[in-house]
Amino acid sequence: TSRAPHARTGRFNSSVTTRASAITIAPSPTKPIEGQKTGTSGLRKKTAIFTSENYLANWVQSLFSSLGSEIEGQTICLGGDGRYFNKEASQIILKLAAGNGVKKVVVGQNAILATPAASAIIREQKLYGGLIMSASHNPGGPDEDWGIKFNYNSGEPAPERITDEIFKYTETITELKFADIPDVDLAVVGTTEFDGFTVEVVESTADYLPLLQEVFDFDMLKSLISRPDFSMKFDAMHAVTGAYAPKIFCEMLGAPESSVMNCGVLEDFGGGHPDPNLTYAKELVDIMYSGDDAPDFGAASDGDGDRNMVLGKGFFISPSDSVAMIAANAQECIPYFKDGLKGVARSMPTGGALDKVAEKMGLQFYEVPTGWKFFGNLMDDGRCSVCGEESFGTSSDHVREKDGLWAVLSWLSILAKKNEGKAAGEKLVTVEDIAKEHWAKFGRNFFSRYDYEGVESEKADAMVDHLRSVIASAKKGDKFGEFELDFADDFEYTDPVDGSVASKQGLRFVFTDSSRFIFRLSGTGSSGATIRMYIEQYETDPSKLEMDAQVALKSLIDVALETSKLQEFSGRDKPTVIT
Ligand code: G6P
Ligand code: ZN
Repeated sequence: TSRAPHARTGRFNSSVTTRASAITIAPSPTKPIEGQKTGTSGLRKKTAIFTSENYLANWVQSLFSSLGSEIEGQTICLGGDGRYFNKEASQIILKLAAGNGVKKVVVGQNAILATPAASAIIREQKLYGGLIMSASHNPGGPDEDWGIKFNYNSGEPAPERITDEIFKYTETITELKFADIPDVDLAVVGTTEFDGFTVEVVESTADYLPLLQEVFDFDMLKSLISRPDFSMKFDAMHAVTGAYAPKIFCEMLGAPESSVMNCGVLEDFGGGHPDPNLTYAKELVDIMYSGDDAPDFGAASDGDGDRNMVLGKGFFISPSDSVAMIAANAQECIPYFKDGLKGVARSMPTGGALDKVAEKMGLQFYEVPTGWKFFGNLMDDGRCSVCGEESFGTSSDHVREKDGLWAVLSWLSILAKKNEGKAAGEKLVTVEDIAKEHWAKFGRNFFSRYDYEGVESEKADAMVDHLRSVIASAKKGDKFGEFELDFADDFEYTDPVDGSVASKQGLRFVFTDSSRFIFRLSGTGSSGATIRMYIEQYETDPSKLEMDAQVALKSLIDVALETSKLQEFSGRDKPTVIT
C-alpha cells in the first residue's frame, strides 16, 4: 500500500489497514418506497423515516443505479453535518458504494464534512462526486430531520436530470447491492483497503482550509482579528462549523478562545435549530445587541456550514445586502478577486441590492430561481464570481456551494482592509459604517421575508391557485393600494448555458417604482408546507435610508397580505419567522 503524502496537505495518512480478501456482493431484496423525490436541496425527511427499513439504502442504490456503469471505478467523497444517524448511514453508504463498483470513498473524519468542504474536496481531487448527509438548517435527532444529497463532479448539487433519474429508480427498485464488508472505523484518519475498494478517512478541513488560505489574505485577517481593540463572536450553533471555526479563527487568526461559541458538534445540535437568522440564532443576537460592550463583529453558520448570518455591533446585515456589499468590495479586499469579478448572480426573491452594484460597476448580472444548483452552470461557464440568496446563502466560484465561512471571512477581509494601518485607539471602520456607506452610494433595497411554517399543504396550494388567478387577470397599470403594477407572473428561467427551462419558480408582482412582492412555497421542508412572502422596496432618499425595514415596508406588506388572502387561506395571522 502507498504511503505518499496527501497531494494538497502534504501530510501522510496516519494508518493503512489492508483487508485483502475479495469483496463479495450480498444482494438484498427490496421494494419501492413512495415519496423519495429530491427537493430543492436533496432528500429530506423525518429521521424516523430514514432509519426505517430500507429507506436510505433504497435511495442510495437508486442513485448508483441511475449513474450506471459511469460510477464504476470512480472515487467519491462522503461526509455530513454531524447529525444523529450520520455515522450509521455512512456504513450503509460505504457498503452500497463498494457493492456498486465505486473504487474509493474519501470520508471526512467522524463522517464530518461541511457542505462547502465537500464541494472543495470534489473539485480539488477531481472526484466523480460526493454524498452529503445533512438536512442543513433543520433540527437533528431521532425526532427531527435527516437528509442526503448528491453533488456532481464540479462540486455542485446534482442537476435535475440526475435527481429525476434517481426518483425514477426509486419507483422500480428491487435489489440492494450491498458489499459484504465490515464497518470501517471513521474516527481515525487513515486508509482501509479492501480488494478493489478503498476508504480514506481525511481530516474534515482537508482541501477546504488550504483553499480558503488561497482565497483570502490570512496575514491581513490576522492583523485585524488579533487587534486588542477588535472583538468578534462566531456561533457554530453546535453544528458542523464547530469542527472548523476554532482552528481558523483562534489557532490561525489569533482570536481569543472566547471569540467562538457552541463549537461542540452535537448530534442534536444541542436541541437547537441550527439556522443562522435573527430568530434561531438568538443567543448570538442577544450578545451582539447587548450595548457598547458587544463584539464588533458577529456571525453564525447553519447545520452543514453553508449558510451564514453577519452582524455588527447592534446591527444586522440582511443577506440580500450582504452579497451586494461583498461584491462591491471584493476586488479591493479579497486576493482571489484581485482581477475583478466575472459577473454576479442572485436568486429571484433575493433583494435587488446586487443589481445596483452590477449596474454601477458594469458587471454581468443574472437572476436565477431559488436553489444553489442554478449558480453552478454560470460559474462553470465563467460567467459569475459572486452570488447569493436572501436565505442566508453567499458564496463564490471557489466552490460550487454556498459557503458560510467564506462569507464570514469575506466580511472580515473588508473590515481588515478598511482598517489597515489604523493606530491602536483610533476609531475603527465598523460593519455599520460599511453598510451605510454602501446605501449612500447605491441606494437601499429594503427587504423582508415572512415565513409561515407548517401550513397544511392543501391550504397553501389553494392560496397559490388564488394568486395564479389574480395574475391571470392582472394588467399593467392596475392599482394595488398605492402601488401601480408593472407586471405579474410566475417566474420562469432559461439557463443561458444549457438552455434548460425551470418554470413555476415563484409568483411575483412587480410595480412601476420597482418595488415588488413575491410568494413561493418552500422546497426544503420535511412535512407540511411553508409559505414564503418576500417584500422589497428601493429607496434613494437620504433621509429614509436608515429606517427600520419593517416600518419602511409596512404598506407594501399590507398590500401583499391582502392580495394573497394569506391569512384567510392559511388560518395564520402571524408569520413564524420574519427576516
Ligand atoms: C437551501 C438551498 C438554497 C435555498 C434555500 C431555501 O438552503 O440550498 O438555495 O435558497 O434552501 O429554499 P426554500 O425552497 O426553502 O425557500
Ligand atoms: Zn445548509
